[in-house]
Amino acid sequence: MTEPVLDVHLKPEDAAHALRADVRAGLTADPKWVSPKWFYDAVGSALFEDITRLPEYYPTRAEREVLADRASEIAETTGAHALVELGSGSSEKTRLLLSALREHGTLQEFVPQDVSVSALTEAAHAIMADYPGLRVHGVVGDFTQHLSLLPGESPRVVAFLGGTIGNLIPDEREKFFRTVRDVLQPGEWLLLGTDLVKDPETLVRAYDDAQGVTAEFNRNVLNVLNREVGGDFDVDAFEHVALWNAEQEWIEMRLRAKRAMRVTLAELGLTVEFREGEELRTEVSAKFREEGVRQELEDGGFALHRWWTDAEGRFAVSLAQAI
Ligand code: SAH
Ligand code: AVI
Repeated sequence: MTEPVLDVHLKPEDAAHALRADVRAGLTADPKWVSPKWFYDAVGSALFEDITRLPEYYPTRAEREVLADRASEIAETTGAHALVELGSGSSEKTRLLLSALREHGTLQEFVPQDVSVSALTEAAHAIMADYPGLRVHGVVGDFTQHLSLLPGESPRVVAFLGGTIGNLIPDEREKFFRTVRDVLQPGEWLLLGTDLVKDPETLVRAYDDAQGVTAEFNRNVLNVLNREVGGDFDVDAFEHVALWNAEQEWIEMRLRAKRAMRVTLAELGLTVEFREGEELRTEVSAKFREEGVRQELEDGGFALHRWWTDAEGRFAVSLAQAI
């Protein structure tokens, strides 16, 4: 089997530099924060895949249901020659789109993009093996920075699945939509997965599962900091917190210090104090309503063409067209 093409837009030294700048900014802020993009080392990416199979974590199953129902319609409507997937991870659900586009006879190229080299490499190999003849052009990159460098022949569909858009705060989302719009030609497509606002118990359970897999995923970010910036976080001294912020309509994941401690980040020359009970915000996961998604898309230069949800109305997939 030939190897997939792999472009590296985010070189390891640039990722290391970005991580350092982020960690310094976040751990010296009040309240403290870490960007969720650093969850996804090889361990974190594998833990995320475990999360997608948990009984409490419904978004992956709900989105898969929508894609299974609508993939043919998406293929017919878009006639895409290239499918670009941002934050592609394992690209498991994406196979529904690849198969439908192939059946429709238009698809030539698949362009998965992710910051996680391990997830991207594994997915690119697996897709190449299962879709003979399809060009697979993986890109190691940051979807908040490297969109203008994406390959792919028009007409393209840019897929942003899983509800990962919700891991960006509103200002970042606004910039993201405008940037995607700028790299597309009028008439090209954005396929967006968004988790929807629902009762807080269901939401909190999805982010605080009984087996503790999400807790492990959350705490793993401290292992990443220990390894990448010479930190000495006692990972077990932090407990996982998931709470619903009703005002912002997002889930927040935090890590709460069980005791007061001083953490040294040797490679940053930084020492950080935690009070007992102090919380470090590691992720927001915004939940959406149809009108909000329509508005954000319009503000970004897209027209919402189709809005589909799973039968239980938990998760939506939107097909939008660049104006
Ligand atoms: N799309 C997949 C994976 C979702 S997990 C699904 O629906 O199941 C989120 C993915 O986004 C991870 O693979 C992570 O590595 C990637 N990611 C997170 N922040 C990113 C960023 N800034 N740029 C590129 N990829 C990012
Ligand atoms: C990738 N992203 C959409 C997931 C989410 O649901 O926000 C990440 C995640 N965090 C905790 N569980 C899953």
